[in-house]
Amino acid sequence: MMRVMEPGRLKLAVLASGRGSNFLALWEAIQKGELDAEICLLISDKEEAPALGKAVDAGITALFIDPRGYQNREQYEAEIVAQLVARNIDIVVLAGYMRLVGKVMLDAYKMRIVNIHPALLPSFTGLNAQQQALDYGVKVSGCTVHFVDEGMDTGPIIMQAVVVVYPNDNEDSLSARILVEEHRSYCQALQLLAEGRVFIKDRTVHIN
Ligand code: GAR
Repeated sequence: MMRVMEPGRLKLAVLASGRGSNFLALWEAIQKGELDAEICLLISDKEEAPALGKAVDAGITALFIDPRGYQNREQYEAEIVAQLVARNIDIVVLAGYMRLVGKVMLDAYKMRIVNIHPALLPSFTGLNAQQQALDYGVKVSGCTVHFVDEGMDTGPIIMQAVVVVYPNDNEDSLSARILVEEHRSYCQALQLLAEGRVFIKDRTVHIN
């Protein structure tokens, strides 16, 4: 059994492609003293991502790193890793980061990259997870916080929260209720990491 992080204040970097509500929830939890962490950096691959403005408003360094400026994913990720290493980042937090993470980042931050997905994995991976759940007709869905590995939404699961699907739900209503649980779960999972309570054996995460 391996302990993922020794107890201590986490230095986080958030990677986000869009709205940034998960970023904001983490930031607010830190302000309230519910999460022992510091967000040192937000990186987006999308220039128009509202997450960038939210980070600036919070006084956090926000970088747009344009993937089109690099010849391949390796070079793009090498730039991201350089930014992370320069700030001594402990944990990379994917928050609506809509890209597959490749070998360069995974090698640099083994079991130090976490993601949140708006479904109960391993169901409904990839895009539009909430609509996939509705189309399938499941009676419960939810969200999953997990470590990132080379697959798409396949890494070891840290925490899940369940949301009941109502007969009259649509994508917006279900997404909104899942999002509430996302914000809560992401803060809780990261706080467990900050407390040094997260251990991993094979692909099973144990919370001490
Ligand atoms: C969240 O619902 C997150 O779970 C999802 O994107 C949204 C980002 O919202 N991520 C994925 O679907 C990853 N496969 P946010 O920008 O407001 O945090």
